[in-house]
Order: sequence, then structure tokens, then C-alpha cells
Amino acid sequence: MTASPAALRASAPASPAQGPLIVLGHAGTLGQAVMRVAADRGWRTLGFSRRSVPGLNWARVADLAPYFKPLAPALVINAAAISDVGAAEADPMAAMEVHARLPGLLAEWAQRSGTPWVQVCTDHYWSANENLRHAEEAPVKPPNMLARSWHEGEQLALRDPGCLLVRTHVAGFRGHAGQPTFVEGVAAALARAEPVDACTDVWASPIEAHQLAEAVFDLVDIGVTGRLHVAGRDAVSQADFVEAFIRAGGHGPDQLRRTQRPARQHPRRANATGLDVSRAEAWLGRRLPALDEVAEALAASPAMPKPTLLREFDVEVG
Ligand SMILES: NC(=O)c1ccc[n+]([C@@H]2O[C@H](COP(=O)([O-])OP(=O)(O)OC[C@H]3O[C@@H](n4cnc5c(N)ncnc54)[C@H](OP(=O)(O)O)[C@@H]3O)[C@@H](O)[C@H]2O)c1
Repeated sequence: MTASPAALRASAPASPAQGPLIVLGHAGTLGQAVMRVAADRGWRTLGFSRRSVPGLNWARVADLAPYFKPLAPALVINAAAISDVGAAEADPMAAMEVHARLPGLLAEWAQRSGTPWVQVCTDHYWSANENLRHAEEAPVKPPNMLARSWHEGEQLALRDPGCLLVRTHVAGFRGHAGQPTFVEGVAAALARAEPVDACTDVWASPIEAHQLAEAVFDLVDIGVTGRLHVAGRDAVSQADFVEAFIRAGGHGPDQLRRTQRPARQHPRRANATGLDVSRAEAWLGRRLPALDEVAEALAASPAMPKPTLLREFDVEVG
């Protein structure tokens, strides 16, 4: 099922008055932003991750009811993910469990309990020699285990007509020492006055994590369900994204080194993952953030590291 302005709204909008919000993967880049935006909107939030619940591994959970039933959530947002392509390839079982089986369990539980929920998943489906923007119904070509497991998860999640399934490309800060996000790696290199390599032939539609969280809650507020592309409105090369971020951060563009992706990659990676967000914009009645707005939000983030704090990220860039 694909959401469109013409489609019926399959679920009544969730509201904070009806119960708490459960966030899976709340310690991740998006999960942290969802928790902050939810609190601003009056939600009582309950976050689950391996950091907050020692021993929790969604890959091994057989039934969600013991976790969820006593909490009676009004809304569940699943932002749990194995976001590393290499890690998914190295442990295909874990990738399938987190990206496919968990959404499947959520769909079963949500349909049984009548709870609205949001499954966030990947844009990592397409490769090409040019920058393309893909609509929701574009056939996918998963190039690796990460993408195959997400694609399987999409089918399982959409068995519940009450699911809002969001394809996106998240950019932001996570603050996990030794595990920098792409943006954290670039910010660290900038502050150290080191060059930053970025590809001219890798394209996506990045959106800052809080901008995405705001859009997701707005869509929940109007009861949208089905598969929807919710991302930055500009599909741009990695190099153009980094240049916009560099400029927004007040640095000179000479720190950027425009490169090309390696001819051979293992595992193979999708490189043309731009998303057409016009359907989401029609639902929202507003534009999603353009490249400059995404870059400015990232540069303005309180998590933008100061040069003296950079050792925490422990990264080599360039
Ligand atoms: N970041 C990107 O470049 C990007 C691009 C496109 C789409 N997306 C999508 O955006 C969503 C959120 O991504 P993100 O960047 O916020 O991811 P992230 O920062 O890597 O966070 C993922 C979260 O999932 C949790 N998790 C992973 N495996 C788990 C397991 N086996 N059991 C329990 N928890 C587990 C992690 O918990 P711990 O804190 O315990 O490790 C973490 O909180 C995902 O759907 C992703 O596909 C991200």
C-alpha cells in the first residue's frame, strides 16, 4: 500500500492524551531526535535500546507483547537499525532479525492491538550513473544484505494497514564515542583543518534528524499510513552535501576534495538513492527542507563539536 493524498487514512491520528510513545532505537541518530521532538510535542516517551535496557537485542525477542502490553502505548516509532553496510553483510541473520523480523512482529502486534506505528527504513535501493529521484512505487534493486533485509522488512511492516513506513536518508549527530556518523566525521575533520573527501557520483536526499522527526510527527498527526518518502527535497551528490555543510559551518570550501567512489566495492553499495518527496509534501502542505536548510540545521546543532572536544570522536578522515 502506498500513501497518497487521494488514499483513505487508515488509522485515527495518535495523540499524547491516549498514552505514551515507545521509541525503538532511541539512542541512535534519529531515535535521539525523535525523543526530543516528541517531548516538545507533549508526548511521554519510553525509549528502548541496548544502552537503556541492558541485554536487549531485538534480534532475539520472540514476542513484543510482554514489553508493550503493560505500557499501552498510543504510538510506536521503530528507528532501530544496523546502519552499517559491512556489519549487515558480516551478520546477515542479525540484519534479517532487526530489519525484517522486528517490523513483522510490530505489524502483528500493532494490528492486534490497533496501535498506530511508524517503521523507519532505508533509501539504500538504487544504483545509477546519474542523480535520480525515486518515487514510492519505483522498483527497488537491493545491492547488498542491508538493503535485502530492509526490503523484506517493508513487506512485513505493510501487512498492517496502520503502519506509516518512512523511507529516508538521515543526517546528524549521535555522540557515540568511536562510532562517528558521516556528519560527525566531516565536522571533526573540519575543526582539525584536515581535508574532507566526498564523492561526486554518490547521490541521496539527506534530511537532518530533527527535521525528519518533525515531519514524521506531522504525518502521524494527520493519520497518514503506507509507504512514504520523507527526506530532504534536494537529491544531491555527497560532495555537494559536504560543501553546503562546510559553508554553513563557516569553513572555506577548499577543505573539500571532490572524489569518485571506488570502482570495486565489497559489499556493493547503492549510489543513486535520491527520493522524490512530493507525495509527503502534498500530505504535509509544506515543503520539506532544501539542501541549504539541512546544512544550516546540522551546523547549528548543539552537538556540532568544538575543536577541543574532537578527540572524543576518535576518527581518521581524509
Ligand atoms: N544514518 C543514515 O545514514 C541513514 C540513511 C538512510 C536511512 N536511515 C534510516 O534511519 C533509521 C535510523 O537510523 P540511524 O542513523 O538513527 O541509526 P543508528 O544511529 O545506527 O541507530 C540505530 C539504533 O538501533 C539500535 N539497534 C541496532 N541493532 C539493535 C539490536 N539488535 N537490538 C536492539 N537495538 C538495536 C541501536 O541501539 P544501540 O544504541 O544499543 O546500539 C541504535 O539505537 C534507520 O531505519 C535507517 O535505516 C539512516
